[in-house]
Formats: sequence, C-alpha cells, structure tokens
Amino acid sequence: MMGWRLALLLLHVLLCLVNGVSSGRTSSYVRTEYPSTDIPLESEWFAAPNGYNAPQQVHITQGDYNGKAVIVSWVTVAEPGPSEVFYGKNEHQYDQRAEGTVKNYTFYDYKSGYIHHCLVDGLEYNTKYYYKIGSGDSSREFWFETPPAIDPDASYTFGIIGDLGQTFNSLSTLQHYEKSQGQTVLFVGDLSYADRYQHNDGIRWDSWGRLVEHSTAYQPWIWSAGNHEIEYRPDLGETSTFKPYLHRYQTPYLASKSSSPMWYAVRRASAHIIVLSSYSPFVKYTPQWTWLKNELKHVDREKTPWLIVLMHAPMYNSNEAHYMEGESIRAAFEKWFVKYKVDLVFAGHVHAYERSYRISNINYNITSGNRYPMADKSAPVYITVGDGGNQEGLASRFSDPQPDYSAFREASYGHSILQLKNRTHAIYQWNRNDDGKNVPADNVVFHNQYWASNTRRRRLKKNHFRLGRIEDLISIF
Ligand SMILES: *[C@@H]1O[C@H](CO)[C@@H](O)[C@H](O)[C@H]1NC(C)=O
Ligand SMILES: *[C@@H]1O[C@H](CO)[C@@H](O)[C@H](O)[C@H]1NC(C)=O
Ligand SMILES: *[C@@H]1O[C@H](CO)[C@@H](O)[C@H](O)[C@H]1NC(C)=O
Ligand SMILES: [Fe+2]
Repeated sequence: MMGWRLALLLLHVLLCLVNGVSSGRTSSYVRTEYPSTDIPLESEWFAAPNGYNAPQQVHITQGDYNGKAVIVSWVTVAEPGPSEVFYGKNEHQYDQRAEGTVKNYTFYDYKSGYIHHCLVDGLEYNTKYYYKIGSGDSSREFWFETPPAIDPDASYTFGIIGDLGQTFNSLSTLQHYEKSQGQTVLFVGDLSYADRYQHNDGIRWDSWGRLVEHSTAYQPWIWSAGNHEIEYRPDLGETSTFKPYLHRYQTPYLASKSSSPMWYAVRRASAHIIVLSSYSPFVKYTPQWTWLKNELKHVDREKTPWLIVLMHAPMYNSNEAHYMEGESIRAAFEKWFVKYKVDLVFAGHVHAYERSYRISNINYNITSGNRYPMADKSAPVYITVGDGGNQEGLASRFSDPQPDYSAFREASYGHSILQLKNRTHAIYQWNRNDDGKNVPADNVVFHNQYWASNTRRRRLKKNHFRLGRIEDLISIF
C-alpha cells in the first residue's frame, strides 16, 4: 500500500517535471544577416579551376548500401574528357582505377557541360583514400574517408543542412559546417535555387556546384530533393520533373532495391538512413509507399540502431511558412514511423529551425474527430533545418502561441550536427551562424528508440536519471 502511494507521489513529481520542461521555447535571438541575394556570378567563390577542361563541381556520395563505395561526380565544360577515377591509399600514388559514364542535357536554352559519374567500390572501411580525376595538367586531386564498418556502437558524426542556395548566408553556413567534426552531410533538399532565374538558368546549377565543392569533393553528401528541384516547366517545353537534379546528383537507389533515385536508403556506421521524396507519389500502393513499407521491415536495429528519415517538407511545423504542407505525407507514413520507432526525422523547406517533442497524431479519425498530437514515446523527434540561407530569406513568422508539440524554434540561419556515440546515445546540436563563439543554440542528448526499451538500456537510464536529463524524463512517459 505504502509502495503504491510512494509511486503515485513520485509519478506526480515526475509529471510536474515533465510539464515544466514541455512548454516549448521560441528563441528571441535576433541578428543582422547578409542580404538574401545570390552571390554574383563573377565572384571568386564561383571561380572555375585553372587548366583546360579541368574537372569542376566535384562531389561524392555514398555508392552502395553499406558504405564501402562512393560515387564520384564532376563536370567538364570544353569536351567530355575521361570519366575515370584513379585512386589509392597513398597521396599521389593511384594504384586503382574505376571507369564511369558521361552525359549532358539541355533545359530550354541552357546546355549543360559534360557530367561524369563514376562508381568507386570495393573500398575498405575506416580508410582514407586519395583520388584523381581529369587528365594531364588539368587533373585534380582530392581525398575522402570511408566510414567505420556497420556496427551498433560505431561512432559517427553527421551534419544536417537544408535549403542552402548560394547567398553569402549559404556560404556562412558552409563555412560554419566545415569547422565542425561532421563526416557526412545529410542534405534535406533545395540545393541551388537555379529555378528562381529566368528559364531556370542552369548556369546557377554550375555556380552552386563550384561553391559547395570545398565540402562535397571530400565527404559524401546524402541527397534528397526539394520543391526547387522539381523544375516542371511545360511553358518552356520542359515537361519532365527533377531533370537537372537527376542528371547532376546520383543516389545509390538500386542498392536498396528502390525503383527510383528519388527515394532510397543507405546504412553508414550505426545509422540506417531513409531518404524520401516529398514531391513524388507516396500515397498507398504507389512505388514509394511500397518500397518504404518493405525497407522498414528490413531495418536491423541490432546492427544499425539509429533510424533516421530525411524528407523535404516537414510533418510538424509551427511556422506560418509552408504550414501544414506535410500533412499528406504525415497521413501516409506517420504510423509507420511510430511502429518502427524511428529516431529522428529531418526536414527542410521552412527557412527556420524547429525541434519537436516525441509526439504523434496517428489516432486522427475523420469520423470521431480525434485530431490532437499526443505525447508518444515511440514517435520520432521531428527537426526542421531549412535554414541553410538561400535567396528567399528567413521564415520568421511562427504561429503564436507555440503549439505543445514544438520544443524549440528560432528563425536564424545555421546547420545541425548529430554525433552518434554508441547504440544508446547521440549528441545533437543546432548551430546558428555567426555566433562568434562556439555555443550551440540547441543542444539535446538523444537516447536510441530501439535500445532504450530493452532491460540493459533501462538500467543505464536509471543511472543517468539523477542528472535530470530532459530526454530521460520524456522517454519514460
Ligand atoms: C551532348 O554533347 C554532344 C557532344 O558534344 C553533343 O553533340 C550533343 O548535342 C549534346 N547533347 C545535349 C543533349 O546537349
Ligand atoms: C473512427 O471513429 C468512428 C466513430 O467514433 C469509429 O466507429 C471508428 O471505429 C473509428 N475508426 C478507427 C479506425 O479508429
Ligand atoms: C555511450 O555514449 C555515452 C555518451 O558519450 C556515454 O555516456 C555512455 O557511457 C556510452 N555507453 C556505453 C555503453 O559505452
Ligand atoms: Fe523548399
């Protein structure tokens, strides 16, 4: 009897604590920004490399399911030139060679350069590789590091960037990111914003490729597409969708048995990353729906405990910009995210930062009227990082009052860093640009959604409990 009362009292105290932390915060941080205009084309930040037909816009992405391959991509402008990559473990000594493909495209009156894609596979884990592309005096050399082998306790650090564009704010985001320990970027859509120009001027795709090369040539960016990649222009005779994006940015979709480069999955270190397309069919019975249903069944949380989803339009967003645009994809997929205990869902689209509590709205019923998001410990945390700094500027009007599901929100430019420490812990932070000091503006310890529910994990939690970690409290209820 006594035990029961004590338990009730304890529960009450804990609930108060939870209530205390569960009122969300809207940051009042205000700072002046660079203007939201694109960097001029003649700027040094867009300078093409020296040398005849030198490879430019170099970028790499993961090339297989498990992280032992990369796809190296680049553009040559004068002539196709070779599509081969020379690589090896020692600088300037390239004992291996891979052969790729070259293609080009037109978009209305724009003619692209020669776009090369080359799969480099059979790599060893945890290894630094040097690579060389191009020929003769114009060849260029870069390097990348492969991830550790798939392992539940493999530590790995991801950066998360969205809606980047090519303004000085974009550049600032990139430069801040490059100062971090990020090893791979999870990109949540809207790359160049070339579609803002007359006839979707592809020259702005090329300038963007040169702007980001400083990062993309040396570490993989895991791509997902946003609305600015659609480029559906029937008025210009351009009736396909995602044409420039699909020519320029490859994804290893076949390795995850996807039928489209727009949605796919990769596993890297201790993470299973699922990339979805907000602007491709996703309702019941469509290819994306069928693929996701199957992929989720095959996620192995014993080997890759961190289940992360990327999509462009956020499902939970309390900004006036793009408000409720994610409702249709939420209706299609949210129940699966809860069922499979997805850890984190990253989105962009809204040009601001926002993090949710673990909530779900899967009991929505059009007949009974149930329609409120509820605290749900099986639900993911939803994070919007559409604050890369593109020419459309910040989305600074949040709905007032802040809804219960919103934990923290701020309209500033920035990027996130997710450090997967081991199977149970990840340290997450959002960094706004130009703080002038190294203090992340949002900082959370995430406990893994799969390993948090087994007994060993519970014991760990007890020990941490005295520290009064917010996530501990929330993950109990
Ligand atoms: C691609 O390049 C070739 C060779 O320069 C050229 O003949 C062809 O017209 C180009 N195709 C497109 C679609 O631009
Ligand atoms: C939706 O609500 C109606 C009316 O309350 C109820 O009869 C029905 O079973 C509910 N459907 C689901 C799937 O919960
Ligand atoms: C997992 O990482 C966290 C954070 O670095 C650390 O506190 C914890 O002890 C680690 N757990 C194990 C089992 O190593
Ligand atoms: Fe967008």
